[in-house]
Amino acid sequence: MPLLTPFLHLTLPSPIVLASGIWGTSAALLARAAAAGCGAVTSKSAGPEPRRGHVNPTCIDWGAGLLNAIGLPNPGATHEVDILREAKAELAHTGAALIASFFADTVENFGRVAAILAQAQPDLLEANISCPNVHSEFGEPFAATAQSAAAVTRAVKQAVPHIPLIVKLAPDTPNIGRIAAAVVDAGADAICAINTMPGMLIDVESGQPILHNRRGGVSGPALFPIALRCVYEIHQAVPNTPIIGTGGVTTGKDAAAMLMAGATAVGVGSAIHYRGPDALTLIRDELAAWLDSHGHDSPAAIHALAHREPRYDLHPTPAPIPK
Ligand SMILES: Cc1cc2nc3c(=O)[nH]c(=O)nc-3n(C[C@H](O)[C@H](O)[C@H](O)COP(=O)(O)O)c2cc1C
Repeated sequence: MPLLTPFLHLTLPSPIVLASGIWGTSAALLARAAAAGCGAVTSKSAGPEPRRGHVNPTCIDWGAGLLNAIGLPNPGATHEVDILREAKAELAHTGAALIASFFADTVENFGRVAAILAQAQPDLLEANISCPNVHSEFGEPFAATAQSAAAVTRAVKQAVPHIPLIVKLAPDTPNIGRIAAAVVDAGADAICAINTMPGMLIDVESGQPILHNRRGGVSGPALFPIALRCVYEIHQAVPNTPIIGTGGVTTGKDAAAMLMAGATAVGVGSAIHYRGPDALTLIRDELAAWLDSHGHDSPAAIHALAHREPRYDLHPTPAPIPK
């Protein structure tokens, strides 16, 4: 089953996308993800300056998902350029696209960081305006309001008009469709949805939060229904904009559901923790087998299927009770 996936100007070898922050930005690991079956790989978000990130503990598996507050450790945009260049060269023979993820503390710095990373000529840029774990330093994420999300989008498009821009949105907003419409209006070419959902865990014996940062972001299976709902609402708001549906995808069937919700490609992150380094290949192959067994000839064949009118004939309305 060919899994070729048209995405903006690209044709990805498969709809599976390595999510940002999962395997860092080492060229070797990104190439490994591509060889494992990803159609695109996303680098760890880089910012204006080098950062160490948060103090341990920074990540915990609590059963239904992961909670992390890694705190965006990265070598800084200038150094990141060399790493991205190396990754781009390693990916060349795989056909997978390189997505360079980045963040910043101000609207202006988003444009500045994008311009620096553009020197490495990634295939796509991804503006991470939704990291929930740096609240105390950066304040409310830019993804929290349509105005701030659009302002970042405009700044990045102005700084780098020639590389398509993906904007990564947050689940904790009352109307994610409105935020998506605002960023598309401001020039975003695609959406990635979603980043982690803010949460916390408390160790009842010591009475203290488990993560040193106190709060963190929930990912993995617990995030899946939230991500599906977000992707569904974004597709309703901006039906012509490609979406990388990300959040809790752990099996090929999850990936199929994400495509049905309106995603064009499917981000995978925490599944690597749950299923091991082969998770990307397993999910790709399960998706291919599922499509095949249901008579679909491509991922595009099930795109946005869940937006059709529900088939009520499967659950006929009971006849009225005679008076
Ligand atoms: C350990 C860890 C680090 C992450 N780092 C980043 C990051 O640097 N930039 C970003 O945009 N998202 C980051 N994320 C969020 C993921 O890219 C993804 O949006 C989220 O985990 C939901 O997908 P999943 O349930 O498949 O993991 C990180 C997630 C985890 C678990």
